[in-house]
Amino acid sequence: MPIETIFDTMEYGTAPEDRSIALQWIANHGGLIGPYVNGAFAPARDDLTIRNPATGEKLAGMTLCTKDEVTEAVQSARAAQPDWQKAGGPARARVLYALARLMQKHARLLAVTESLDNGKPIRESRDIDIPLAIRHFYHHAGHAQLMPSALSDRVALGVCGQIIPWNFPLLMLAWKIAPALAMGNTVVLKPAEYTPMTAMIFADICSQAGVPPGVVNIVTGDGSTGAALVDASVDKIAFTGSTSVGRQIQEATAGSGKSLTLELGGKSPYIVFDDADIDSAVEGLVDAIWFNQGQVCCAGSRLLIHEAIADDFHNRLKARMDKLRIGDPLDKSIDVGAIVDPIQLQQIQALVQANTAGQTYHAQTPVPEGCFYPPTLITGLHPADTLMQEEIFGPVLVSTTFRTPAEAVEIANNSKYGLAATLWTENINLALEIAPKLVAGVVWVNATNLFDAAAGFGGTRESGFGREGGWEGLQAYSKPRQPLPEPAQVTPFTGQGAAADDIDRTAKLFIGGKQARPDGGYSQAIFGPKGQLLGHAPIANRKDIRNAVQAQLACGWGKTTGHLRAQILYYLAENLAAQTSRFAERLDAMTGLTTGAEEVRAAVDVLFTYAAWADKFEGRAKSVPMRAVALAMREPVGAIAALCSDQHPLLGLVTPMAAALSTGNSITLCASAPFPLVATDFSHILEASDVPAGVVNILTGPQADLAPHLGAHMGLETVWCLSGAELTQEVQARASSNIKRVWQGAAQDDHDSWLDAGTEIKTIWIPYGE
Ligand code: NAI
Ligand code: MG
Repeated sequence: MPIETIFDTMEYGTAPEDRSIALQWIANHGGLIGPYVNGAFAPARDDLTIRNPATGEKLAGMTLCTKDEVTEAVQSARAAQPDWQKAGGPARARVLYALARLMQKHARLLAVTESLDNGKPIRESRDIDIPLAIRHFYHHAGHAQLMPSALSDRVALGVCGQIIPWNFPLLMLAWKIAPALAMGNTVVLKPAEYTPMTAMIFADICSQAGVPPGVVNIVTGDGSTGAALVDASVDKIAFTGSTSVGRQIQEATAGSGKSLTLELGGKSPYIVFDDADIDSAVEGLVDAIWFNQGQVCCAGSRLLIHEAIADDFHNRLKARMDKLRIGDPLDKSIDVGAIVDPIQLQQIQALVQANTAGQTYHAQTPVPEGCFYPPTLITGLHPADTLMQEEIFGPVLVSTTFRTPAEAVEIANNSKYGLAATLWTENINLALEIAPKLVAGVVWVNATNLFDAAAGFGGTRESGFGREGGWEGLQAYSKPRQPLPEPAQVTPFTGQGAAADDIDRTAKLFIGGKQARPDGGYSQAIFGPKGQLLGHAPIANRKDIRNAVQAQLACGWGKTTGHLRAQILYYLAENLAAQTSRFAERLDAMTGLTTGAEEVRAAVDVLFTYAAWADKFEGRAKSVPMRAVALAMREPVGAIAALCSDQHPLLGLVTPMAAALSTGNSITLCASAPFPLVATDFSHILEASDVPAGVVNILTGPQADLAPHLGAHMGLETVWCLSGAELTQEVQARASSNIKRVWQGAAQDDHDSWLDAGTEIKTIWIPYGE
């Protein structure tokens, strides 16, 4: 367009980015891409076609890796892992640093290729995806360097299988590979079938950076290749993608001993209070839902707007939508690019067409033919409408109104997801009151989509578990140096002798702060080592679990202060200590050992320890490279159930309880089945120690009958399987019902691991400056 015309019309001209270097890179590789294994590209095949979604043109052919090819890659990673770990943190830091430098040198090639392959505007790939990916490698070069001093009690997991989606191809690769390598793991990564190109350039860069062969392996392919990687002999699976595939992976890895992190979908609320800076909130929303065509797991896709400003806000938003420019992703003046693939486009169209509620507004802006979808706003929806609940994964915003902050929180949290949330208000007090109440792993205050390698990212509920970035992200790629021994299984004693006590002592369950008879009405005789009858323990069932979890969800313990929790834990210690001889006798009678008194003292000490931690297990303020603070707040994971170990009937009950309570969680303890009577005795200590109703519940009976119900329970966020691999598998097989965290415990004195298992980091971003 000539300059005079532009002066006349004041229209944008085009500013196309040169694509020739990216196409040349592909041509140099014979137009075919395939697996990168053991430091070299294997011969590639034309099994799948990689396209530019903006034009439909073929970019390259790609190998669909078979199970055997995946196995080969895993073997190469396995062979390389010991040396990579032994090389030490500083040596790994040099390699990660070299990767960051080389990515920087090839930044434009990476950005152009990303936009060609994915359809995202070059403005985004150039200014956001690629710089953030590079920053991740720099940041983690530092973590590798510091590992020997700062994380001396942790070691690598081994070989990590990593499966990533197509929405941020290189950035997700960086999030996965950088921390894994820093901690001494080797990796096999599978990029998404729509967007493998930048992973291939990254492979090339690995060779140039001196990454030892086998440390980074990349297998290309689709879901079948991903499934093969999940089944392969890896030590960990890290997955980012849809909740449905995450669920399949959780089921497939159940009982395998593989560690797992899942970063899944979301339907993140974007809350605008009536005192917000409206124009900024509109601009933030453009970024929240039209960044990357809305194909963002943490997209602010659910607008909750204060009723008083709703009309004004919607009008300004529509005016802004009409100004968004959709078109060629390689044009530097384009706001919204192409949808990644025609299949995704059809899904978006189908979801919007099926909706009959509210009013639908499409941006009045020219939309090119092909894989493009206009920015869309649907107003007047009710919180329960399908489009308020289901992830659309496209440029479609849904909107509803609220009247009070409490109602905003209620609507925001009315979701199966819990990934991110945004809130806008000029009142910092309101912001800091609301942020902790939102069920989300990340909260942005007066901003949105802020990311950094130093700040953790990840979800709760069906958005998954585990964090990426920062110190917390390293947990997912390392484990305690001391391996945890498999707990011994104890066979209950049998007998038929007469009762040892003169007066029958009735042992009951402890649910909602009260002694409760078991719902089923069954009890089981408990015998000592000489066959003497020690008493009867109730047999809990599914309904007792239900009642216990209901009491947990209503108990409000998570809102108490660390100081109060410490006071109650100390009080428990005091009351238990006062009964030392009684508990010691009970333990000795049940086990036939003489270590009872020692165990009671150890349990009192555990209560003191976690009382001490209750107001000291702190969060951090992250140092992020922008005018913002990112607060890493430790939040309780929520309702926990524990299958307690048989090994030390009292200590095995008190340790998970104390650790859970210390960090603000409620817990249902399924006591050791052979030795339940010390647990039913412990109910009296709970009653005497001001523990609020529902915070601790105690169930007895065969754990094998309870485990499947714990695994399937929708109200439990976490199950601690402390009594062996067999029951862990029972729980894990059902944990995908609500994407539960399943944890197998840590050494008795590894307090950090116990406390970590009870908390999850919420990152609250607060920008500053006018
Ligand atoms: P997807 O979850 O199927 O794909 C993500 C990755 O998993 C890809 O690399 C894929 O090859 C792999 N995969 C697929 N099936 C697998 C299996 N059974 N085992 C192991 N790996 C497997 O996502 P898809 O089909 O590309 O997109 C469908 C929907 O998922 C989207 O419309 C969106 O709602 C959601 N999604 C969410 C993402 C997020 O970041 N939260 C990212 C991508 C998609
Ligand atoms: Mg593509």
